[in-house]
Amino acid sequence: MPNLSQAKWWQDAVIYQVYPRSFRDSNGDGIGDIQGVIQSLPYLASLGVDAVWLSPFYKTPNKDGGYDVEDPRDVDPMFGTLGDAERLISAAHGLDLKVVFDVVPNHFSSEHKWFKEALRSAPGSKERSRFHFYDGKGVDGNVPPNNWNSLFNGPAWTRVIEQNGELGQWYLHLFDSSQPDLNWENPEVLEDFKTTLRFWLDRGVDGFRIDVAHGLAKEDIHIDHRNPDALIRALRVESSDLTKEERISLLTDIPFFDRDGVHEIYSEWRKVIDEYSGDRMFVAEAYIYPTSRLARYVRPGELHQVFNFDFLLIEWSASAIQEAITRVLSELEEAGAPPTWALDNHDSPRVVSRLKSEKKARALAMVAHALPGSLYIYQGEELGLPDGEIAPEFRQDPAFIRSAGKDLGRDGARVPLPWEADEKNFGFSTGTSWLPQDPSYKNYSIDLEEADHASFLNLYKTSLALRKKHLGLGGDSVLEWPDSPEGVVYFKRSGGFILLANTTAESLEVNIRFAATIILQSAEGASITGSIVRIPADTTLWLQQ
Ligand code: NOJ
Repeated sequence: MPNLSQAKWWQDAVIYQVYPRSFRDSNGDGIGDIQGVIQSLPYLASLGVDAVWLSPFYKTPNKDGGYDVEDPRDVDPMFGTLGDAERLISAAHGLDLKVVFDVVPNHFSSEHKWFKEALRSAPGSKERSRFHFYDGKGVDGNVPPNNWNSLFNGPAWTRVIEQNGELGQWYLHLFDSSQPDLNWENPEVLEDFKTTLRFWLDRGVDGFRIDVAHGLAKEDIHIDHRNPDALIRALRVESSDLTKEERISLLTDIPFFDRDGVHEIYSEWRKVIDEYSGDRMFVAEAYIYPTSRLARYVRPGELHQVFNFDFLLIEWSASAIQEAITRVLSELEEAGAPPTWALDNHDSPRVVSRLKSEKKARALAMVAHALPGSLYIYQGEELGLPDGEIAPEFRQDPAFIRSAGKDLGRDGARVPLPWEADEKNFGFSTGTSWLPQDPSYKNYSIDLEEADHASFLNLYKTSLALRKKHLGLGGDSVLEWPDSPEGVVYFKRSGGFILLANTTAESLEVNIRFAATIILQSAEGASITGSIVRIPADTTLWLQQ
């Protein structure tokens, strides 16, 4: 990592992700909103985070939680007004918090004016060329142009009715049919996104999280994929029927992801953001294989950060953790980009549910918080919130709907936050919450956790404060890995910081060969006698030499 004099705020920032509709509702309609975020900024500041990233709040028919954007330069009334978004930026800045917004360039909503114009226009028109419209195959054109599948189940193509009332062309949608993919070979698309970036940069945002950043360039649309069903299973990590080699070969060559063309687009975006002062940044959401290819997104002249998703999937195993950390650091080193770490987001099972253990989740979090680079925390993660149990009639995820319930989708991680144990909807809303909260959520309420010194929340507050003090900006990214017993993660960072994590079910002793003090433990029960450190089962310790 660069030295202090060159350091940028995002290089080691802790960035808190707000999923607006589930964060806090200020007007009693049961849906979280921007005012709710503004009112809760002091809470975020008290956590010790550096920035807040908001998932989309733009004008949307809300078929995919706002990732179906009808107008990227306006705010949906469900979330508030443009004025609210502007007030949010200035209120956050007033508390010394940076602000990151989402940008969704792979697709628009089918309610976007461009798509409506495309539907009204003829095949081959300039209006259609902003999306991927093609004639179907077969005698009547009733076979989609290729056999690609949507990531949300079913075909990636939908056929339209033309102005004459007859079945006509097909359009591509890698996600829901309400999310037509944009054609980035059309220069108008790039120009429109430059306008959107400038629109928010002019209003003071400090950065953008780029949705499906690896998806904008498509290749070989006329060629069928050799195994489209297996490809979707491989992408969803549900590929137990595939051999490792087959899975790798499917993921390494996806005709709609990680094509070289995406990099030209980001060089253009970089020029736009560089017009602005104040260290503005881009972070790319790119699920790609092999992860070494992520470094291409953060080469000089492209993006600033890319998500490393290893910790969203990792087992609680010392060897897996050490492998992921050393790989990520070495892969990004050449590009000179800091890594990013995340345990949770709005698309994945929450870490407590995934590991089926609060204790392990606390311990894994304390590993992530001690790493170089920047850390993303998803709302509720700091409370140790598990996924919500949701009855089918309440589920809204298009992945659930398009699979007729076979795929439960992501709503479990999107259940609204509990703020106050004794209030209606645990303080989230005075109305009817858009997704029901589990009764158990009461125990995770922010007010209760604030009052309990052993809570998940207070562990996060302590670790974030210590992270700033011991591992702050300007710290280098060198990790030393002394020998350690099996099942123990053991690394040192400069300044005498030591991490020990016992991933086994038994307590263990490690001789670190010098004296040190415990500055943080993810669970009670650790001790040091001379240079012997006793670590309880499933526990992470931070030590200072
Ligand atoms: C990734 C987003 O995080 C997810 O929520 C969304 O459904 C897809 N991209 C499509 O925009």
